[in-house]
Amino acid sequence: MPEAKIIDGKAFAAGLRERVAKEVEKLKSEKGITPGLAVILVGEDPASQVYVRNKGKQTVEAGMNSLEFKMSEDTSQEDLLAKVEELNNNPEVNGILVQLPLPKQIDEQAVLAAINPDKDVDGFHVVNVGRLSTGSKEGLVPCTPLGCTMLLKDHFGGDLSGKKAVVIGRSNIVGKPMFNLLLQESCTVTVAHSRTKDLPEEVSQADIVVAAVGRPEMVKGDWLKDGAVVIDVGINRIEKPEGGTRLVGDVDFESAKERASAITPVPGGVGPMTIACLLANTLTAACQQNGIEAPAL
Ligand code: GUN
Repeated sequence: MPEAKIIDGKAFAAGLRERVAKEVEKLKSEKGITPGLAVILVGEDPASQVYVRNKGKQTVEAGMNSLEFKMSEDTSQEDLLAKVEELNNNPEVNGILVQLPLPKQIDEQAVLAAINPDKDVDGFHVVNVGRLSTGSKEGLVPCTPLGCTMLLKDHFGGDLSGKKAVVIGRSNIVGKPMFNLLLQESCTVTVAHSRTKDLPEEVSQADIVVAAVGRPEMVKGDWLKDGAVVIDVGINRIEKPEGGTRLVGDVDFESAKERASAITPVPGGVGPMTIACLLANTLTAACQQNGIEAPAL
């Protein structure tokens, strides 16, 4: 088996951001519309601060308006809901994202439910979850699984039908929407999780493996079917034996690349796709809110 092709998510994301920027430019010049994305960050979580800073920067680079609202760690649910309502009613705002996780005094589901589903660029509102699971065209799809699907379709020349896929992880943010997207692409999909009886056996059946469990290097190369395509959603920081830290995925990259036909690296695989898809969703939302057909990206 030749060594696996490395799926370059960083390059794909850069191309997607360029396509979004071109369409934003057209929307501005032809319709006088500048899409706007509002991000709310509650508290001081360092990883969230990095994400939010990168989102803001890339939003502006794509030619869109970026609004950022930083609220203190002790913000009440009432105050956060009032901010969401204000943004729901602001016509300049086409997309609203509340950065997760939220402090413990706040009920996450209540906040997500308060976002206007048509502005829910994270795709976490139950209305968008329902739209995705029923195959509706209007919905907004969670960014990370959307990015994974784009990389897979690009790799397979657009057609995933009939492939056996195993998704490891059942989160609302990745695992469950990933299941729905792969099903929509006519894959036969298994969702594995912490109570799955024999995970290596399940993985060994799969043409496509999507790992989203948050456990460093858990999926080993010798679990894989020869020629499997591996999408690694994990971003885990581990200690190096010689000191310092490094980022690794949920897949043991070194052994997996000996068995897989293609694999996403960490970093530089799925990671950069998330914000690129957020920009794509913001453009889609702006078009839909203005009765314009959203461009294919
Ligand atoms: N925290 C980690 N990933 C995400 C995401 O995709 N959206 C939001 N809102 N918060 C996150």
